[in-house]
Amino acid sequence: MNKTLLTFVIAAICAGSNLLAAAPTHGMVASVNPLATQAGVNALKSGGNAIDAAVAVGLTLGVVDTHNSGIGGGCFMLIHLANGTNVCIDGREMAGAAATRDMFIRDGKGDTHLSQTGPLASGVPGEVATFEFAVKNFGKKTLRDLILPAADIAENGFAVPANYAKLLASVAGDMTNFPAATAVFFRNGAPVKTGDILKQPDLAKTYRSIALHGSDWFYRGPFAAALGNWMKANGGILTSNDFANYHIELREPIATSYRGYEVVSFPPPSSGGVHVLEMLNILEHFDLKHMDAATRLNVIAEAMKLAFADRAYWLGDPDFVNVPRGLISKKYGDELARKINPEHATEVSSHGLPPDWQTDLFKKHTTHFSTADAEGNWVACTATINTSFGSKVVIPDTGVTMNNQMDDFSIQAGVANHFGLIGAEANSVAPGKRPLSSMSPAIVLKDGRPMISLGAAGGPKIISAVLQETVDMIDLGMTPAQAVAAPRIHQQWSPNELYVESKLPADLKKSLADRGHKIEVLPAVAVSQIVARSPDGKSFTGAADPRAGGTAAGW
Ligand code: DON
Repeated sequence: MNKTLLTFVIAAICAGSNLLAAAPTHGMVASVNPLATQAGVNALKSGGNAIDAAVAVGLTLGVVDTHNSGIGGGCFMLIHLANGTNVCIDGREMAGAAATRDMFIRDGKGDTHLSQTGPLASGVPGEVATFEFAVKNFGKKTLRDLILPAADIAENGFAVPANYAKLLASVAGDMTNFPAATAVFFRNGAPVKTGDILKQPDLAKTYRSIALHGSDWFYRGPFAAALGNWMKANGGILTSNDFANYHIELREPIATSYRGYEVVSFPPPSSGGVHVLEMLNILEHFDLKHMDAATRLNVIAEAMKLAFADRAYWLGDPDFVNVPRGLISKKYGDELARKINPEHATEVSSHGLPPDWQTDLFKKHTTHFSTADAEGNWVACTATINTSFGSKVVIPDTGVTMNNQMDDFSIQAGVANHFGLIGAEANSVAPGKRPLSSMSPAIVLKDGRPMISLGAAGGPKIISAVLQETVDMIDLGMTPAQAVAAPRIHQQWSPNELYVESKLPADLKKSLADRGHKIEVLPAVAVSQIVARSPDGKSFTGAADPRAGGTAAGW
């Protein structure tokens, strides 16, 4: 490694992790924003557990990281409780009752502007319902305890970080169509800049109302009414009734074994959990540890291609379509592993699940944060309003930025969404349906003991990041800090291109191209956070992705 690269890696590892502080034994938090991580640590220090800490982080992110997530969006929360139970709270958005399969088709063509921006782009958000349920059932604090400190930050303001200002500038054009959004995010006709203090008094009021009245204020009270009125006046379809009908779903966690570990993740409507497990089942057939790096990356890319081909065909909301469990069977993993040529890229023309494995069914711009506590509760939560600043709509007088999660549906066969993903009937729009997601919160156990909590943001690249970090930590023995910093690749079957991070060494890029991959270089593949047990099992460690400005901290 040359000296500059070595300095970069060391700096990245130190910035993203907690290596220099005393090893925390009470609990740990990792998120993409220092204020949010601190809110999680404060919740732990004041008697909360990992669930309380996660909710404190999520609510704070909704104030200081509004481009990625917030109460106008949804989340998947995976919890490993100290008693050994795994819980999946599905707080994904739901399409409104008036949603139709072809609602985004204009002149015969799927119009992604409509699914990404403005009144039609949103589903009913699930974050408030998820957080309230999690705290009530598994926390030690109240939602009120956890939301009020975040309300104070909304009221007093925070200094806008550079990446926030950059993302805001990139969507400013679309945002000018929505005056309530520019009232929050613009000053003197221009988006707020790095270092400006952004105060959100309306959001503070909204948070305080939720503190006082709980989620009813949001789903069955003044917020739902304000949203219904705005939608009606602006050509949207969501109504206050859609809000009253919103419900979280408790889903059965999915798991597979991988080299002596148990990897637990989220079932559909997350596609991520299914495909991370599907790929681990494939990769277990290869001695990744002793392969040269180019062969290893080729094998991983080929596993990604096979899994994403299945995603495009099979995956959708399990309450509406039959998603086969066979996708995560060991037998199917064996079958797919045999299709991989370690030395060369292979053409994958379609999904591959054979008919006899299709019968056992699943019944039924983003952020990831992880927490753990000394009692043995662990959380992996990925939350999102989808792309930066969601639909760009802020509901007047509430400060709430609405999601554009409708774009995660397949709005028309063959029409790619924001992430270049195509889908089939399984993920078409329908009333009350949840759009397919790539969010893949995961918890890795060893002999029943939680060892790692991880997840990522980045659309489909989430799936690839979670896979590679799992392999990096389990097969290659990397620490969380090394795993988040390591260069990543991503192959999503369509388009048939291998995305590689620019910092992947040039010889590896060349070697992958020589093996038949069409290489596309990207500055970054996903943003991930990890919390883990230290190697001696006595304390916690963690890492925030050096690609963003987060922190991992504990006490
Ligand atoms: O649920 C999903 O798959 C997407 N809405 C996630 C979006 C995302 O990660 C944006 N991040 N860059």
